[in-house]
Amino acid sequence: MNDTLWQLEPATAAKHRLYKRYLDGYWAKMLQPNGAGNSWPKVTYVDAFAGPGRYLGGEEGSPVFVLRRLLDHTARGRMGLRPNRVQLVFIEKRRDRYKHLVKELGAKFGDLSALPVRVEVVHGEAAAETARALDHLQAWGNPVLAIFDSWGNVNVPLTLLERIAANRGSEAIVTFGPNWFNRREDQNAEQLDDVFGGREYWQRADRESSTDERWRAWLSTYRDALGRAGFEFQLQFEVVPHTGQPLYLVHGTKHVAGVEVMKDAMWTVDPEAGTLFRDPRTRGAESVGQLDLFGSGGGVHPELRELIVQRLDDGAITVEQLRDWLVRETARWLGKHANAAVKTMCDEGAVHVEPTGQISKRSVIRLR
Ligand SMILES: C[S@@+](CC[C@H](N)C(=O)[O-])C[C@H]1O[C@@H](n2cnc3c(N)ncnc32)[C@H](O)[C@@H]1O
Repeated sequence: MNDTLWQLEPATAAKHRLYKRYLDGYWAKMLQPNGAGNSWPKVTYVDAFAGPGRYLGGEEGSPVFVLRRLLDHTARGRMGLRPNRVQLVFIEKRRDRYKHLVKELGAKFGDLSALPVRVEVVHGEAAAETARALDHLQAWGNPVLAIFDSWGNVNVPLTLLERIAANRGSEAIVTFGPNWFNRREDQNAEQLDDVFGGREYWQRADRESSTDERWRAWLSTYRDALGRAGFEFQLQFEVVPHTGQPLYLVHGTKHVAGVEVMKDAMWTVDPEAGTLFRDPRTRGAESVGQLDLFGSGGGVHPELRELIVQRLDDGAITVEQLRDWLVRETARWLGKHANAAVKTMCDEGAVHVEPTGQISKRSVIRLR
């Protein structure tokens, strides 16, 4: 069977829409000088499960659209593209797909060595080749964005993520297919120990028997692992396409700006395509797709409401603490959403705010 290329699944298309938005924001932030005029000397992007660069229907694979959008970026003139500053690495294990990717990139971009960025296409195993490429490109010490986009047999050792997280300004994105959470028998325990950093960290998730809870348990176990690896901020969410199977994504970053760029991307993904992003913390069947602070029936968006109630169930907090919690702990909500939601929930009588009157960051909120 020739399966070098395959059909683009709706969940992958949804993920691609998210990546496109996210990377547009990422490059703009990482490559342009900041307000003080400083910029990173080097930024390295790794797509460790790169694929063949194209789908059966002719759609672009991630290496192709990532490179194309970087070269066509509206801020390109201010981004200081130079081969020794901006480096992209694409790794693919299957020789046929690797060859296809090389051909595809050549057809789309011509001689890669003539581009204003450095592009390395590598044939081999994701984890080993990521470390080797980062050595060879002298990427350590500067920001690395590594994407581990496997079909579910995630076998990227946590030690590699730790090395990446030790770099300033670095980020990692790891995706999981739905089957990953159901079939543990085909993964050996030693491999899971490597992925999660020790048996004590994953055994509890493995004991979860309810199908609906398994993905939540494993996803948050992986999210915690990224935290232990040194990514101070972690997001986890389910990408629910219009039709077909969902997929799951965990994002780890060293900076709150990374969280903001990812959340902004979720908020701006084209609603027409029907992509939904679901926070694993919420149980509701409520579609949390088109993002609007206020749900269709008016009032606070049901997902945001459910999350705030969950948090307040643990006790009273200040508005500032709620803002911080929304940024760090929820998939899509930003600090700026706290005030308006608290005000509406207070007007409705769902929460009590002290002192009464103007809501400030020091106001204390509790459930009524
Ligand atoms: C989900 S696909 C990648 C899709 C691609 N990132 C995109 O979005 O267009 C996963 C790819 O990883 C490759 N692969 C599987 N195991 C690998 C490994 N251990 N190291 C590197 N590549 C691997 C597969 O052959 C497949 O092409």
